[in-house]
Amino acid sequence: MTSTLRSNCNVIAAVLGAILIAGSSLSIANAAEGDAGSNPHRLAAKIFKEHNCGSCHTLGSKGQFGYTAHGLEIKKQSLGCVDLLTAMTKLISVPEERWTSEQQAQVHDFHEFGCTQCHAMTSHGMEMTELGAKLRAAHMSCPEVEKTLNTNRSSAGE
Ligand code: HEC
Ligand code: HEC
Repeated sequence: MTSTLRSNCNVIAAVLGAILIAGSSLSIANAAEGDAGSNPHRLAAKIFKEHNCGSCHTLGSKGQFGYTAHGLEIKKQSLGCVDLLTAMTKLISVPEERWTSEQQAQVHDFHEFGCTQCHAMTSHGMEMTELGAKLRAAHMSCPEVEKTLNTNRSSAGE
């Protein structure tokens, strides 16, 4: 009984510890992401990795991403970044109860793909979340991530 209680406490302590660690590493990550600092390439690579860009994009040269098989499928369905952001921007002025089921599915994808970690649909229009605003201020938009990661290393001096 007492020992179960104690082990429960240990479990709770471990869980709390994990939450604290997760919380602080998240804020460190956010701080790092907001700080293009001395190394834009590293920041772009971090965004690419942590925000799942690689589920659809591959790294290329010549300043442009390529596509994974999934990315090509998404492109065919007009759910790629440019198409999707354009669709979401238009949808903001349409009352939610008038969204078609296709539009509802697109909004779902916009969340599902992780876009809403930085892009926020608000009643004032498409805005940035706190993280998005930090990255915008650091000149690390989606197009910048693409450009930065797909430039030849040799000429990537900035
Ligand atoms: C679910 C798939 C998917 C994810 C996730 C995704 N993209 Fe895309 N993205 C596409 C597709 C498909 C296109 C091309 C069609 C379009 O632009 O609508 C595209 C287009 C782009 C473009 C414009 C490319 C051009 O040359 O016009 C940029 C920039 C871009 N993506 C950056 C990113 C970044 C940065 C991330 C991660 C934060 C990301 N994408 C995540 C599918 C995705
Ligand atoms: C880690 C943050 C982040 C994520 C995740 C992200 N974006 Fe972005 N994206 C930005 C920032 C910052 C900009 C610059 C916005 C600005 O300048 O107003 C941007 C710009 C863009 C642009 C270019 C818009 C323009 O007018 O030039 C497109 C298109 C875009 N994002 C689509 C997407 C889509 C679709 C997703 C999800 C697949 C996505 N983004 C995920 C941060 C992000």
